[in-house]
Amino acid sequence: MDNKSVILPKWIDKIIFDDFEAVYEPCPMEVVYNPDQPYEFIKLYLGTYFPRSFAEVYSIIDSLMINDNYKQALYNLQEINILDFCCGTGGEIIGLLVALSENLPNLKRVNINAYDANPDAIRFLYHLTESVERAPEFRLEIHINPQCIYIESEQEIQEVINMSNMQYHFMMSFKAINEFVQHGTFNENNPYELIASYFSPLLKANGVFIISDVTTKVDNGLYYPQMMNSGINRFLKNSQQYKSIVPNACYHYESQCSGCYMQDIFYVSHREKNNDISKIAYRIICNKSFAQEVMAGYTLKTCRAINPLADKNTPYNLWH
Ligand SMILES: C[S@@+](CC[C@H](N)C(=O)[O-])C[C@H]1O[C@@H](n2cnc3c(N)ncnc32)[C@H](O)[C@@H]1O
Repeated sequence: MDNKSVILPKWIDKIIFDDFEAVYEPCPMEVVYNPDQPYEFIKLYLGTYFPRSFAEVYSIIDSLMINDNYKQALYNLQEINILDFCCGTGGEIIGLLVALSENLPNLKRVNINAYDANPDAIRFLYHLTESVERAPEFRLEIHINPQCIYIESEQEIQEVINMSNMQYHFMMSFKAINEFVQHGTFNENNPYELIASYFSPLLKANGVFIISDVTTKVDNGLYYPQMMNSGINRFLKNSQQYKSIVPNACYHYESQCSGCYMQDIFYVSHREKNNDISKIAYRIICNKSFAQEVMAGYTLKTCRAINPLADKNTPYNLWH
């Protein structure tokens, strides 16, 4: 069974709510950023987004590890490189670290490059990872480099690529690319396509890129998951070097899908909220040869590209 209900580990609950005074605010989009009280704003992010992103990535990695081809490819690693694009307060980073430490017993050290425009989030993330590393419940050595950069055009993406002189086992972007769509940062270009095409060359041979975003409507009537799927599918078709492994159906049908709607639902519980709900759409892409290795022996899944009745609310029942 895929585990999509997560309880924030007690020691992390304690760090964010006791040590950093996080505040749960169910409608953070309505909270206006106040530059005079930057830390107050970060506390709201920390109490609300952080546990959700933690739970999402924790569940995603747990499901990915059910695939034995994938797990075996990483099993002997002692050191892992991670990049987070638009990390915010880094819920997905901590969720990934906890999931990896549970699944990869040989892992000792993680190197993380994390980028975001918000200087308070960046500063905060640095202190948070210090607290996590000190916790007796946590066993990995963390080397994090949180960097403040405001992406205004493709040029800054290029700068990020040049700055991060590493190749990655995990790259992630959680609930942020929609903000580039809203601001028209890349003019007429599809931001999902553009970001996938810039970052994918930084993948290690066995690396994965998790591209995740909200499921709401874009102003032009499309939904973000449709825009994500059409952009990523176009990138994959044009490059011919990469493929998706999640959702499972996309591996088989991405070349004939023009961009359908999909979503996955997660629940997270912590001291301030029982079963807080979070809906996202995500794709996991990697080098084509690694995708073929990971998918070997796994059967076809139905999908609206071939079956109009397939349920797009549950495209993520991964490996069963
Ligand atoms: C909704 S938050 C998500 C944060 C984090 N990934 C998470 O899931 O908790 C979106 C993040 O994207 C960042 N962001 C938005 N536009 C950006 C830009 N143009 N350049 C850099 N960061 C940006 C924001 O500062 C914010 O931290």
